[in-house]
Amino acid sequence: MKKTDDQVLVIFGGSGDLTKRKLIPAVFNLFKGGFLPKCYAVVGVGRTEYSDEEYRKSVVFENEHLNEKDKVSESDLKRFSDLIYYQSLDTKDVDSYANLKEKLNQLDQSKATCHNYIFYLSTPPSLYEVIAEGLAANNLNNQEDGWTRLIVEKPFGYDLESAKHLNEHLLKFFAEDQLYRIDHYLGKETVQNMFVTRFANSIFEPLWNRNYIHRVEITAAESVGVEKRGGYYDSSGALRDMVQNHLFQLVALVAMEPPVKADAESIRNEKLKVFQSLRPYTKEDIANHVIRGQYMSSTIKGEKVPGYREEEGVGEESKTETYAALKFYIDNWRWAGVPFYIRTGKRMPTRVTEVVIHFKPNHHHLFSSNSNLANPQNTLVLRIQPNEGILLKFAMKIPGAGYNTEQVNMDFHYDDLSNVYVPDAYERLILDCMQGDATLYARGDSTEAAWEFIDPILRAWENEEIPVYGYPAGTWGPENADTLIDGEQMTWRYPCSNLTDDGNYCEL
Ligand code: BG6
Repeated sequence: MKKTDDQVLVIFGGSGDLTKRKLIPAVFNLFKGGFLPKCYAVVGVGRTEYSDEEYRKSVVFENEHLNEKDKVSESDLKRFSDLIYYQSLDTKDVDSYANLKEKLNQLDQSKATCHNYIFYLSTPPSLYEVIAEGLAANNLNNQEDGWTRLIVEKPFGYDLESAKHLNEHLLKFFAEDQLYRIDHYLGKETVQNMFVTRFANSIFEPLWNRNYIHRVEITAAESVGVEKRGGYYDSSGALRDMVQNHLFQLVALVAMEPPVKADAESIRNEKLKVFQSLRPYTKEDIANHVIRGQYMSSTIKGEKVPGYREEEGVGEESKTETYAALKFYIDNWRWAGVPFYIRTGKRMPTRVTEVVIHFKPNHHHLFSSNSNLANPQNTLVLRIQPNEGILLKFAMKIPGAGYNTEQVNMDFHYDDLSNVYVPDAYERLILDCMQGDATLYARGDSTEAAWEFIDPILRAWENEEIPVYGYPAGTWGPENADTLIDGEQMTWRYPCSNLTDDGNYCEL
């Protein structure tokens, strides 16, 4: 295992939702698993005044998101809470960072945390630059006697220009190797396993190219609506919220070339090349190859659910997309001519994320098939969530006379690894940052390259002529999205045909 220095995690936005829901639970799991170094502390930072005790109560003892808290002994829970501190701070007041510095100095002395700090920006993005500047003004960005790292939550920018601006600003105070741009999809075990599936198996890689792959399809569907985040979401939309970051990271892992080594620099170099090879959209492409949609009120399993425009914080005439589907090409040696189809949406029939590789059919049809496809294609499904696993569809002879075939499934389920603990994405990502490993974090140049591709769509959508199609909540999005997939008898894969009644179990 890699070495983890003694250190302090400072969370800006310490009383926020993400801290309670994801960050403290992730640190708690690292504590339970014995991954924290000997000298360690967490300092929550926020505007509200809390004593350390009050803060511990809120984020530890009364936090319903701490997994299996009851399985930890009282004394261990107390020991965990003793690692947690709080400092109130007005992020816009440069002088108030001196109090934080003082608190960190005290911890360095009482806990021997060695002046090693991770600053986690879990605040509204408008504060990222201010905080970086405040830290720098107090010499907390670059220390001689320890290291400093800055984790930046998404969204990283709002478009290409703002992302460039943010990168430039952060790089004034922090070096690129101190910056950790988080994309929690990269922390998911199943996403990391895509890299292994491709490069640890000799059977896939020879076929992983334009000669054998017909198309690539990626779906990230959610059954929930915008919940209480209407205010944020209405100025974001599916393209910024999911496509530019999470879905593009999946695209990069499917499409990248094998890196020279499995280290941060080599892997991130290859991912960058994928974004640089995306064929830029023309105006016509955007009109024809990108579909946006918005969910409308509907009745799901007897319950009426509101349309997007009726959600709290959303404008009555909002044009913000809650669904986006794109067809595009990667113009390089490996992928020339292979269409990539990606889609994401809220209020779809279920929550499911998967990558589907459709292989080309055989050139010559020898057998008859009992499916309505004369020559079924092999399909590899990498299920990211839920019911995580891998499924390969292939043709088999139906027992009996003649050579009739049908498609059968060969599958692997993560559940079968019953004794293996699968860490949460944030747990893995925080541990990596603690150990100085940026492999699973996005690099500045990649973030900008992804925005460069997305930006023309955003500009075109400002133009009223491109329709926002409505789709009833609980369906797979606008029907027009079907027109994106070209080829006879080709459609999106509709997973979960065998959804359970509560709509939660989506079989692989
Ligand atoms: C977040 C988006 O980054 O990812 C949310 O802001 C979305 O809108 C979430 O719901 C999806 O993450 P997951 O891990 O549930 O697929």
